[in-house]
Amino acid sequence: MLPDLFIQQLKQYSDIERVVSGYVQLKKKGRYLVGLCPFHSEKSGSFFIYPQTQSFYCFGCGAGGDVITFIRRIENLEYMEAVKFLADKCGLEVPENGETDSRTLLKKKVLEINRESARFFHNCLMSDQGKGAYQYLIERGRDRKTIRHFGLGYAPDDWYALVNHLKSKGYTEQEMIEANVAVKGKKGNAFDRFRNRVMFPIIDLRGNVVAFGGRALDDKGAKYLNSSDTPVFKKSKNLFALNFAKTSKYPGLILAEGYMDVIAIHQAGFDNAVATLGTSLTDEQARLISQYTDKVILAYDSDGPGQAATKRAINMFDEVGVKVTVLSMTGAKDPDEFIKKYGRERFAMLLEGSRNAVEFELAKIRSAYDVGTPDGKVGFLKEACKLFAGIKNPLEREVYITQTANELEISPQAILAQIKNLDKREYYRERNKQKSDMNLYIGSMAAAKDDLQRQQKLRYAMAEEGILYCLMKNPDFYRTLETKIGEQDFVTDINRELYHTFVTRLQEGQGIEMLDLSSQLSEQAMARVSAILATAPSQRCDEAALEDYIRILIEHRNVKTDREVAQMDDADLGEYIKNLAAKKNRRS
Ligand code: GTP
Ligand code: MN
Repeated sequence: MLPDLFIQQLKQYSDIERVVSGYVQLKKKGRYLVGLCPFHSEKSGSFFIYPQTQSFYCFGCGAGGDVITFIRRIENLEYMEAVKFLADKCGLEVPENGETDSRTLLKKKVLEINRESARFFHNCLMSDQGKGAYQYLIERGRDRKTIRHFGLGYAPDDWYALVNHLKSKGYTEQEMIEANVAVKGKKGNAFDRFRNRVMFPIIDLRGNVVAFGGRALDDKGAKYLNSSDTPVFKKSKNLFALNFAKTSKYPGLILAEGYMDVIAIHQAGFDNAVATLGTSLTDEQARLISQYTDKVILAYDSDGPGQAATKRAINMFDEVGVKVTVLSMTGAKDPDEFIKKYGRERFAMLLEGSRNAVEFELAKIRSAYDVGTPDGKVGFLKEACKLFAGIKNPLEREVYITQTANELEISPQAILAQIKNLDKREYYRERNKQKSDMNLYIGSMAAAKDDLQRQQKLRYAMAEEGILYCLMKNPDFYRTLETKIGEQDFVTDINRELYHTFVTRLQEGQGIEMLDLSSQLSEQAMARVSAILATAPSQRCDEAALEDYIRILIEHRNVKTDREVAQMDDADLGEYIKNLAAKKNRRS
């Protein structure tokens, strides 16, 4: 446990508003701040910061907690790592006796293993056994400097080369398996996961080797094999070469499909290229990119799947407010091939002339209709107007409208009229959507939408939440509560856990503010606490309210679950039925 004094200092210096605004653009609205949630995709802000309670809560996805929970989630850190992260930022020293939990230790081990593996693979590539792989890279146009810069390597065609090497360095098979550089065989022994492959180390923003991609040199297995998720790596949250691209002097990022493409583009002098890791673009990656730039050049393959992926990515970047332009390559299937065939100058020209998203879409629509015929003209116009209606910048809109009007030999006014109609429909759709979103907030708690127990026992759960809220607002209420109910009266598990924690802390003279709690509570429990605080304006919080809540819980003492009833012996069952009957009579 960390000493109280340290937590107090951390609280003072790590104001949630200041920390979060490093990641999210916040707008002040009365006593709270609002922004776009960094934990799910959205266009209107449901992400609230409450400076008073030092908590955050998203009405859309139910994420919530204190400043430590926020850092844990957004930086993907364990509790102690997040504390250290925050402490470093405000110049505080974390007391050393704060014990490091076993998961933090495991992460450290996995990172060491990854680094050692990367070194091993690189040495293999540069030695005799890697001759073939080295030759392969040279033939594909990579030079020695690039190979070193990216730390490329070779995994030997052997079942135990890496496992044996890591053993000699003192690592256990279990640790290698956790790092996903080895796999458990049928007999329980570990063997190398990557064999006879060119290896691409994936490096995070802090310079750690977090994972690998490996390209097959023979036709055994998949062409590319990537690390699965490990304690230090989540595929959907990382990008290849972002560690280099983040400090590039070029504006914007180039997003390509493959490792080889990215490396080719870097070697051609553009160090702002990144790639996803064997999956298509995820929401998390789009948001990650939006933290670094507001402009992306899509350099996907020119084949069908590549173009479909381009379309999908355009929409995803639009969601997070990143402007997209599209590289249109002709004569080559991907950037790697293009650069090899036509050289870096031509690629630079391609970058200069990369078409923006609207032009890309417009060209697609145009190719789907024969604008030489009246029917084709109408079809094209309808689709194009939908596209134009989505352009927010009026000047940009004007340009496309004029251009299209000229092309189709119709008046710009005709196009404008079409768009106006669409705009209206869009307005009503958006308004209705917002209305139904509001209803959702009131009717349910997003943080608890998967909590079946809460839904089935909603009346009791809400009373419990009322009690927890009152207690946080006024810890003195504890004295009243103590004489009337105990934690066994709590009906839902998560609220009972919270009550237990609150009461234990209060008995020991400790606080129950957000930051006091996060060392003790799970992420789920923290989200629930902030949900309770955030929905609190609808909760009453005085002596009378407390009495009401208590009464509801006491009522529940007499309500048995079907399972409990089924397990009663005859005597208990008789007693229970008698009680029920008596209660019914009292009511009527
Ligand atoms: P080269 O053939 O070496 O030039 O690779 P490429 O990048 O042109 O390959 P491709 O366009 O087929 O794939 C692009 C990216 O998709 C790769 O860099 C991988 O990240 C991923 N990928 C390709 N094949 C596989 C596969 O079999 N499994 C997985 N998981 N990912 C793959
Ligand atoms: Mn390729």
